[in-house]
Amino acid sequence: MANFDGKTAIVTGSSGGIGEAAAKRFAEEGASVVVADVKVEAGEATVADIEDAGGEATFVETDVSDPADVTEMVDAAVDEYGGLDFAFNNAGIEGESEATGDQSVDNFERVIGVNLKGVFLGMREEIPVMLEDGGGAIVNTSSIAGQVGFPEISPYAASKFGVIGLTKTAALEYGGEGVRVNAVCPGVIDTPMVEQSREDDPESIEQATAATPVGRLGEPEEIGDAAVWLCSDDASFVTGEAMTVDGGYTSQ
Ligand code: NAI
Repeated sequence: MANFDGKTAIVTGSSGGIGEAAAKRFAEEGASVVVADVKVEAGEATVADIEDAGGEATFVETDVSDPADVTEMVDAAVDEYGGLDFAFNNAGIEGESEATGDQSVDNFERVIGVNLKGVFLGMREEIPVMLEDGGGAIVNTSSIAGQVGFPEISPYAASKFGVIGLTKTAALEYGGEGVRVNAVCPGVIDTPMVEQSREDDPESIEQATAATPVGRLGEPEEIGDAAVWLCSDDASFVTGEAMTVDGGYTSQ
């Protein structure tokens, strides 16, 4: 168990899926949570669930690809809770599936804008506040598609490989000043993102399950647990790490 009493965490993409599960885990450990997402109703539902369970949270409508929104998100943490200790930069989109020669420039820019620029914008605002507070911990969501190639999702893969580059660079820059920066690389996790693939191409989910040595898809809570651990004092010597949580998928 981590003890996050009196701490503040931002979790982006927390209206559903991995972010929602993680926001609830941070709150269970005692952190006040800024729930940041483009989806307002679902984000407010995440906050209500946290409050019903006795936790503290606030929703901030945020498009992580918009610099002004990201500034407001971090300002909200400081205004509501007096500072920022942890950030889970998790919001992401899969984008269109096409071979590289058929990918549109629009899709490339959209996916990079949310998944890669969004993480950059988040860290750019979060780190100065953490430095003022004497330190903190950041976890960025990459993917197993940030470690090995996957056909037909070149913009997504580029964004997720890029997240690891941003993570390792910031870890070097701020390790001596008390800010740890890590990435988590989920395998195939049963979230609304995967639900969409299940509808569009059911075979792809059967194949993903068969290719996962533990024989099932991951649960969003299993990634939330990893993010909480990486932010906790138990991970005090862990920085610049891209932690794979994939049921063995990339070990083959
Ligand atoms: P999801 O689609 O279930 O949830 C993503 C959340 O991000 C949604 O609430 C959505 O509204 C929000 N979001 C999308 N664009 C946004 C933006 N511009 N600004 C703010 N919020 C935005 O997806 P899931 O599965 O929970 O994914 C979370 C992260 O995990 C993503 O970065 C994804 O790439 C990554 N991931 C997911 C895997 C999976 O199998 N589900 C595998 C590996 C990585």
